[in-house]
Amino acid sequence: MNLFRTKSTEQILSECESQHTSLKKSLSAFDLTALGVGAIIGTGIFVLTGVAAATQAGPAITLSFSFAGIACVFSALCYAEFASMLPIAGSAYSYAYASSGEFIAWIIGWDLILEYIIGASAVAVGWSGYLYQFLQGLNIHLPVWLATDAWSLADFAQKNVPGQHVIPPMILGIPIVFNLPAALVVLLITAVLVMGIRESARFNATIVVIKICVILFVIIAGVFWIKPANWSPFFPFGVVGILNGAAYIFFAFIGFDAISTTAEEVKNPQRDLPIGIIASLLICTLLYILVCLVITGMVPYAHINHQAPISAAFGDLGLTWAALIISLGAIAGLTSVLLVMLLSQPRIFFAMSRDGLLWPWFSKVHPKFSTPANATMLTGCTVALIAGLTPIDVLAEMTNIGTLFAFSLVCLAVIILRKKAPDLKRSFQVPWVPLIPILGILCNIAMMIRLEAVTWMRLIVWLVIGLIIYGFYGYKNSKLNTNSSQPIQKEP
Ligand code: ALA
Repeated sequence: MNLFRTKSTEQILSECESQHTSLKKSLSAFDLTALGVGAIIGTGIFVLTGVAAATQAGPAITLSFSFAGIACVFSALCYAEFASMLPIAGSAYSYAYASSGEFIAWIIGWDLILEYIIGASAVAVGWSGYLYQFLQGLNIHLPVWLATDAWSLADFAQKNVPGQHVIPPMILGIPIVFNLPAALVVLLITAVLVMGIRESARFNATIVVIKICVILFVIIAGVFWIKPANWSPFFPFGVVGILNGAAYIFFAFIGFDAISTTAEEVKNPQRDLPIGIIASLLICTLLYILVCLVITGMVPYAHINHQAPISAAFGDLGLTWAALIISLGAIAGLTSVLLVMLLSQPRIFFAMSRDGLLWPWFSKVHPKFSTPANATMLTGCTVALIAGLTPIDVLAEMTNIGTLFAFSLVCLAVIILRKKAPDLKRSFQVPWVPLIPILGILCNIAMMIRLEAVTWMRLIVWLVIGLIIYGFYGYKNSKLNTNSSQPIQKEP
């Protein structure tokens, strides 16, 4: 058995050169920062803040964001070292292949599916929540059972508009609740991605500007409505509440790692990647903290809306126009996050299939559109189904545990590769190794253990399924297995 066979970094770099000679190297540090902000700001701040502030941390949610932000900086530094050393697509999966061996790479790749597929489902549900609020503001009322997420009648009752009491239709005694807008938006974006219309830097820049303007609007306009009394008590759920909140809103920071997947299109990856990753993270953390201070200052924490907390804070004050602008900005912003996630997952499937760890079907390229159409459609249909049927809190927790696990493995991989390949050129080096990676791992574990037991169970089941597939397929068919003879496919 050779579970720890490793791709040499030279092999990875030469694969990458032969496959990517056609990609234009046009992205600067500024573009990367914009890309990062585009991928980061989304459902976390616009939606999850509501539940986290109302039920987990209270006004101290600002400290939850600070904690999660700092934890992400540790992991981001590790990502930056890898990205500057191995500027290749595939992100953490490829880093692990070079450092910790195939088995860990498989686990990370399998685990990243949680980050992207389940994460995209959570973003789609958040998107639908803001669409619902937006239409509500225009006096258009979608049937609640066809536009919300709930697994029980009690959950469903909470989603009702105040003053209404809607019961979902029942079939054989089972309530029918399906989040149709969430599923539809996913299918629409998937169709666009299959046809190969990639998110252009200009489109991304426009969305980023909209997002930042909406966030700044919330901060600046909201300041006038703050009642300091709402900040008291500041720590209604104590220190545990802060950590619980951090574990939940960690979702808001996911996305900076997507920057490293563009490494091959960056003009000066060694310098610009670390700048892009860290700058986007710092900007988002600062904005998040300010938004949380404002929202918890405007609304008593227990009354913060769960589905669309930011627009509702303004809507409840009678500022309908402000709520509409915020909802519209959130819808645009969440669309771009969804696009990045639905684009990233097929690339990971692609990389794993190219390495022989998944069936060749996953790396089939569409003859006309030159996109990984199979992987993209599988991703899109799965996300649409999950988003239609699953509550956002379940999705967010699953995404978080999977991503925290992957981040921890990347931190560990930095320590391992420093030992295994000390001479490899690293134009960006994490300072104080192993202290920083270890701090990253500890912070990630601190958040992981605050997630619910059932989330851990789901992670374990997911990993076991992954191990079975690796055992029966990947191990035998891996390109590193000398008996394997599948041809290497070109990346679209
Ligand atoms: N950070 C991204 C979001 O909050 C995933 O939507």
